[in-house]
Amino acid sequence: MLFMSTPRRILVTSALPYANGHIHIGHLVEYLQTDIWVRFQRLRGHEVRYMCADDTHGTALMLRARQEGISEREVLETMSRAHQEDFQRFGVSFDYYGSTDSEENRRLCHEIWAALRKAGLIAERQVSQLYDPKEGLFLADRMVKGECPRCGKPDQYGDNCESCGATYSPTELKNPRSAVSGAVPETRLSTHLFITIESLHAFLETWTQSDDHLQPSVANYLHGHFLSAPLQDWDVSRPAPYFGFEIPDSPGNYWYVWFDAPIGYLAATSEWCRKNGRDFDEIWRRPGWEIYHFIGKDITYFHALFWPAMLHAARLQLPRRIQVHGFLTVNGEKMSKSRGTFVRAATYADHLDPSYLRYYYASRLSSKVDDLDLDLEDFATRVNADLVGKVVNLVSRTARLVQSTGLSAQYPEDGGLFAEAAAQSEDIASAYESCDYGRAMRSVMKLADRANEYVDRMQPWKLAKQPERARELQDVCTVALNAYRQLALYLSPVLPALAAQTAELFGAPFESWDAVQRPLLGTSLQPFRHLMSRVDPRQVQAMIEASKAEAPPAPAPQPAAAPAAAAPAAAPPARDAASAPSEPLAPTIGFEDFTKVDLRVAKILSAEVVESSRKLLRLRVSLGTEERTIFAGIRTAYAPESLLGRLIVVVANLAPRAMKVGTSEGMALAAGDGAEIFLLAPDAGAQPGQRIH
Ligand code: MSP
Ligand code: ZN
Repeated sequence: MLFMSTPRRILVTSALPYANGHIHIGHLVEYLQTDIWVRFQRLRGHEVRYMCADDTHGTALMLRARQEGISEREVLETMSRAHQEDFQRFGVSFDYYGSTDSEENRRLCHEIWAALRKAGLIAERQVSQLYDPKEGLFLADRMVKGECPRCGKPDQYGDNCESCGATYSPTELKNPRSAVSGAVPETRLSTHLFITIESLHAFLETWTQSDDHLQPSVANYLHGHFLSAPLQDWDVSRPAPYFGFEIPDSPGNYWYVWFDAPIGYLAATSEWCRKNGRDFDEIWRRPGWEIYHFIGKDITYFHALFWPAMLHAARLQLPRRIQVHGFLTVNGEKMSKSRGTFVRAATYADHLDPSYLRYYYASRLSSKVDDLDLDLEDFATRVNADLVGKVVNLVSRTARLVQSTGLSAQYPEDGGLFAEAAAQSEDIASAYESCDYGRAMRSVMKLADRANEYVDRMQPWKLAKQPERARELQDVCTVALNAYRQLALYLSPVLPALAAQTAELFGAPFESWDAVQRPLLGTSLQPFRHLMSRVDPRQVQAMIEASKAEAPPAPAPQPAAAPAAAAPAAAPPARDAASAPSEPLAPTIGFEDFTKVDLRVAKILSAEVVESSRKLLRLRVSLGTEERTIFAGIRTAYAPESLLGRLIVVVANLAPRAMKVGTSEGMALAAGDGAEIFLLAPDAGAQPGQRIH
């Protein structure tokens, strides 16, 4: 008998990514962890709504817009599109994706602010802050550099010293400089508004330490580091100029980004409710819905102290749980631009199947806050061994053998294989429920091992050669394919693409988690299509090379997110080459950045069309001392024969780029927007190989 529990109603959030940087594989630890949980809960028949949004406000984005000479809103639009595209490629299934720069968010900020005022939780104080007179800007701690007040080490940020570990305020730095303009900052006094959360100390102590709201290590951390002493007032305002919402009862002051960012969870919910005819109050103002926040460890105290305090003061529902994960390392080290391990989501997806990463992260995630390592060698090995070697192998060894007969009508004797896998259902479910995906993956792989042992023993490929044993063959394949189907279902929160292909193969979608209890019988199979390829280590290498090549010049300084902030610096916004006429100018770079690009005169030796592409020509060019193959998207504008012998300009030190049609060993420069294309050429007399300065 199946046990049907009552459906739960669950609101899930991932932290809102900063709008001024691209999504990278570190972020994906979080969005994939959350998405797996969300998909699991949906499969269990619960109502789940998954909310997210771009986190838009703050000084960093304002600076970026200034540098690019466009409005903040234009930057936001481009970035929101890029973020959502990245998430889509990785199968992250938000119900709604909003922006903290929305009217709904402003309205909710006003509401919560009014509640905090009413509760007497707002205080006002003068704060001296460093001001960059050249940029006309108050400087966040990380936008100031100078000598450490304790040990004198030069070039330290305004919050702490990397050399001696001292923490201080930026006004204490000796010989401070603005990291934005290099100007000598002035000290200016301005009014700041504070939330006096010490008056909620008892509430926060109880909330953080009870009811499994937090992982035990997180609860202990908060108790030890914050709650064992009086809580300091939280500075939630910034003087103009600041990109954000102006505080209604304090003109000229703006809410600090971390005030309006979590309110973005409410705003996204509210916007989703309005679009779907649902009731916001039912979710956030009355008990009933379970609210789950997934976050990284660097932003724990904003979510586990300030946010519950705000919700409590505004009489909104508190989260059922805040699930904290650790940070990503790659090959055992922090992600690094120069090593090419700071990999953008888009760059990853250009080279490798997102399913691999979903599986690899799942296999490494537990319910603990430990950091997680992406060991690139282990990544390839594990994906190939587990997914291709164990799971997909079951189906690729058997599906074709029963293509003509379909599955047996009666479930055959299988020595208990199916029943054993079905019996693990609640165990695997509880591993997913507690975010211990590593345990779930291990259980599933054990089942895969058993199913493969069965196939090895029964040797269906031998049966296939003996027509008189056709019945037996059908039975063996029926067992193997049903075992595969159970695995694909258990893995479907992690591998939705494989689940969809599997549903297609069997002509039967996975309606619920309990489908694992009932074998499919008597049905025909759709023609077998290749399900998943092995990871090719050369693709991994190409991804690393591409990431090295796109490592941007020194990023704009970021305001510190939190005392323990480890958030990597952001990359500049993506630029869509196809939107040329109004394409904004890229941010200013230093001369030394320009000299990193090795531009050369090249001579076209041959040009051929690429059969599988409407845009590409394959060029063979001479750089004087060496030849290169370059794929150029110029087919619509140039006939291949018209190019022979022409001199063009190429980027000669671009990392080789693996494309479907081959590897491109450089880039030919051209102006235009894709509709019109103009190859660049040197004046007559230039020689192939000459460098362009
Ligand atoms: N904008 C804030 C969150 C506001 S929520 C109201 C922020 N943004 S972020 O873009 O820096 O990070 C988004 C999420 O990704 C955070 O939970 C952060 O911890 C997580 N990660 C960012 N880099 C990460 C790694 N390298 N590894 C694992 N998670 C990482 O913080
Ligand atoms: Zn120092």
